[in-house]
Amino acid sequence: MVSFVGRLSEIRELRENVQQHKIVVIHGFKGVGKSSIARELCRQIQQPYYWNDLRNINTADGVLQHLLSNFTQEAAVLEDKRALLTIVCENIASQGCDLVVIFDNAEDVIKGEDSAFFVEIILSLSHLINTNILVTTNVMLPFHPDKICDFILRELCFKDSYDLLKSVCPTLKDADKICAIVNLCEGIPLALVLAGGEIGFLDVDEVIYLLSHHRLKVLSSDCYSKDEQLEPVYKGFLDRLPTVLEDKLAVLNYIPGTFNKEEAISVLGVTEEGSEESMQIFADRHLIATVSEERYNIHGILRDCLNEYFKIKDIKGVRARFCRTFAVILKQIEKKTETKDYAEALSRVSVEYQNFRKLFTDVIHCTEDTYHVFIDLAATSFTGESILFTTMANYDMGIHFYEVCLRKAVEYKEELDEAKVLTGYGKVLTNIKGDYVRAEERFQRAMDIRRRYSKKRDYFMALLCQSYGWNLGCQGKFVQASRTH
Ligand SMILES: Nc1ncnc2c1ncn2[C@@H]1O[C@H](COP(=O)(O)OP(=O)(O)OP(=O)(O)O)[C@@H](O)[C@H]1O
Ligand SMILES: [Mg+2]
Repeated sequence: MVSFVGRLSEIRELRENVQQHKIVVIHGFKGVGKSSIARELCRQIQQPYYWNDLRNINTADGVLQHLLSNFTQEAAVLEDKRALLTIVCENIASQGCDLVVIFDNAEDVIKGEDSAFFVEIILSLSHLINTNILVTTNVMLPFHPDKICDFILRELCFKDSYDLLKSVCPTLKDADKICAIVNLCEGIPLALVLAGGEIGFLDVDEVIYLLSHHRLKVLSSDCYSKDEQLEPVYKGFLDRLPTVLEDKLAVLNYIPGTFNKEEAISVLGVTEEGSEESMQIFADRHLIATVSEERYNIHGILRDCLNEYFKIKDIKGVRARFCRTFAVILKQIEKKTETKDYAEALSRVSVEYQNFRKLFTDVIHCTEDTYHVFIDLAATSFTGESILFTTMANYDMGIHFYEVCLRKAVEYKEELDEAKVLTGYGKVLTNIKGDYVRAEERFQRAMDIRRRYSKKRDYFMALLCQSYGWNLGCQGKFVQASRTH
């Protein structure tokens, strides 16, 4: 077993909470280290304690019997659970010293039918003068009396993760490789312990490669028991969700980056009320975590499990809602770039970066339903392009986007759309790549199409003339440019 590492500020805060409140509930994401920190706290405060591991106990009677087993070997057979609670309280009160009662892994009872009575149990115990209560759980309590202090445990910070990996694997010296493994474990101590355990059997570079491509599998070696393997642990966590919520979480997982409530509701596509409620449940069960004031994310390891085991039922519908949702957001951002809110717009682009990338690559799934959304993006989304397509990898993604849009316009026999896409394509080639010759060829093709519709004078024609003229000007073809412009 690995000795406890780090968490200095968390322990300090937790100790203060325990001094000030009779009941402290530690909650957080599955496997984040709640039980470990509770154990470490008990070790440090050196007070007598009763440790009740409630895993798989989902009734009030089970909890009370467990409590009673701290004092007597015999199970009490009492119909009335309040009478049983009184016996427990009397036993604890008679101990004659200050002590801590820990309810570890209390999620099963909190999710069960007796959750309200469980709260009653902890409230009753907290009335005893000599008792502090500590609960660990990965779901919120059903209701929340003022007396209860919540302590949310987050993932291990980078430094603690680094130290934990080093403590599992002291021979590992290369800082870059340690950092790579730490990043791939995303603050989950179990993942770090397991990854460290693989080093030795496997070369460090192999471990890094396997973590990048098959994280769940490599951290689920048969050498460990099922409750120490990453995949069964997190899959089991998801399996405990009702099917409707499972489906909704799989849909949310379609959003690759962080998301806010409106985006989530729009992609979920059900009534606002139902979606708000589901979002609340996901947050209460730590299936989604807040990453900033308004934004949420799904932990990478949970995403791996969702991708592997929870298929989206109506994938076509979800793709369509995703593309509409984020196309609208991109357009809203574009509007802002022409105003004093320019800086805000740019920072929003970086926040939405992963989502916009998926929006552009999802063009391969373009159907009749989403055709106009993509054509509109190709024809008018210039801020997105000039920000998103500027690195080599993203530039290729941008070119791919225009190529597919062009193919679709040809497929749907929409010549004017073809001209719009060619204009956008030419602009990217001119302004981002500086490939004036290839861009000119696109503009010329667009112009040839527009000549067949000489009576139609619209924004897109003006845009074509302006962009084509700019391209020719850049090539020094000023006479031709002034004619086109
Ligand atoms: N600070 C730490 N230092 C070393 N190991 C840790 C630390 N925190 C957690 N671990 C290890 O990570 C694993 C998971 O930790 P733990 O069981 O405490 O998580 P948990 O949040 O209680 O999980 P669950 O949600 O399943 O109850 C354990 O093997 C534990 O030993
Ligand atoms: Mg635990």
